[in-house]
Amino acid sequence: MASIPLKKNHAARRPGRKAKFLGQWSMFFRQFVKHPGMIGSVIPSSQALVDTVLDDVDWDTTRLFVEYGPGVGTFTQTILDRLHPEAKLIAIDLNLDFVAYLEAEISDPRLRVVHGSAVDVRRFVTEAGFRQADYVLSGIPFSTLPEGVGEAICAETHAVLRSGGAFLVYQYSAFVRRLLTPIFMRVTERTVWRNIPPCRTFHALRDEALAQAA
Ligand SMILES: C[S@@+](CC[C@H](N)C(=O)[O-])C[C@H]1O[C@@H](n2cnc3c(N)ncnc32)[C@H](O)[C@@H]1O
Repeated sequence: MASIPLKKNHAARRPGRKAKFLGQWSMFFRQFVKHPGMIGSVIPSSQALVDTVLDDVDWDTTRLFVEYGPGVGTFTQTILDRLHPEAKLIAIDLNLDFVAYLEAEISDPRLRVVHGSAVDVRRFVTEAGFRQADYVLSGIPFSTLPEGVGEAICAETHAVLRSGGAFLVYQYSAFVRRLLTPIFMRVTERTVWRNIPPCRTFHALRDEALAQAA
């Protein structure tokens, strides 16, 4: 699957903050009912979770940020708010309805929304004109993926990250830890209680360079 150039919804009236919030929750819930294994959660992540994960990023040096499973864009808008003006964000989602929603809702030249699987991240990064990513963020539900897919995504992510880059993962279970620890140099885990339900975060460092810089 490849990038899908969908028309922006410029003509439509922009909803207020409350209407937008309710619209996101309703869209998210409907997609969960349609594809429970692919979505893995009934409601989007909380702002407390978004801030905890993104506070770990070195935004000054980041030029390519990749997001897996953006859904309705819960992390995407905050990433764009913090991203350097010359940097790019590639957001990859397997669900075409989410891709269409994001394309219609967020208009930012730094964002490239891609319909496809995170397994193909290296191809999507190359197509966007990059060789490597500084950070990859994932909201994919690893514990419900088909056999072998989680291992492949972790291996491809390690391959696409620059030396010293990091894979940031948020999950409701610790399942992903066993996929990360054999590949990444150091994996740091935390729990964010201000999320429904409480969520685990994993910061998986590709290699020594970032550890020395930190
Ligand atoms: C729990 S939702 C996360 C949504 C949003 N980031 C949030 O925090 O509220 C999981 C997302 O992963 C996407 N997804 C599942 N498998 C995927 C895959 N192999 N590649 C890319 N996205 C995938 C789903 O379509 C869904 O948007």
